[in-house]
Amino acid sequence: RREFAQYPHKYPMLSLGNTYDMSELEAFADRAGKGIGNSFTFSCELKFDGTAICLTYRNGRLHRALTRGDGTVGDDVTENVRNISNIPQSLKVPAGFVPAPAIPSPWPEEFEIRGEIYMPWAAFERLNIERERDEEQPFANPRNAASGSLKLIDSRMVANRGLECTLYHMLGEDLPYETHAQALDAAASWGLPVSEHRRIFNTTEEVEEYINYWDTERKNLPFATDGIVVKVNELPYQEELGYTAKFPRWAVAYKFKAEQALTKLL
Ligand code: IVH
Repeated sequence: RREFAQYPHKYPMLSLGNTYDMSELEAFADRAGKGIGNSFTFSCELKFDGTAICLTYRNGRLHRALTRGDGTVGDDVTENVRNISNIPQSLKVPAGFVPAPAIPSPWPEEFEIRGEIYMPWAAFERLNIERERDEEQPFANPRNAASGSLKLIDSRMVANRGLECTLYHMLGEDLPYETHAQALDAAASWGLPVSEHRRIFNTTEEVEEYINYWDTERKNLPFATDGIVVKVNELPYQEELGYTAKFPRWAVAYKFKAEQALTKLL
């Protein structure tokens, strides 16, 4: 096993509260609405089933990548992350950006962006065929395959594992965005991998429709998702709601029911 250097997280890496049915989701929306005391919008996105990663960019360059670890301190997997093809080493200047003395670059000097590293089904199946051929234990699921691959001893081997990353949460001091959606749109314009499956809604009815749509449609995605994440979109409202010891009060996961199959008992 490889020992990775460890670094403290600037902001703790928390988990999400889970909901399993629409009434729990409505309870989340009611609590958020009471806390905010105003109308707000919901950002709905896929819940990627992989391993969480926290990237720090400084002056437009990838500075460090940390795993969640215990949420307070994470493992430095920067060199391994440099071998994941859709994570840029350097950000790109969006077309039409004109530097000014007060705004010399399109991105904040330093920011964190968190997301999930996962292994698409095709890469997972290919890896397990190779492992069985080499008489190695196959991975039980793409999530284990992703976290195992992210911790490979030889960083160059990571490049062959077909890992992908999707980023879903930007953090930093005094970020100039009003909404979560604006922050992610900005990240996408710098070439960071942000999901195209994101929608903003006004009502829980629309959120429920979106969940029902993806509960079926997820079977056609090239990677595993185990739910939908519903977030308060307005950043000042997120701040107002804050966090419990474990979870943000401004977001919740809706978990899909696990796939079930019938088996014949002989
Ligand atoms: S937001 C403060 N958005 O699911 C936590 N998390 O079970 C903010 N995850 O810890 C996290 N897809 O590792 C967020 N679209 C998404 C996500 C997502 C997957 C992971 C993340 C989180 C875990 C909770």
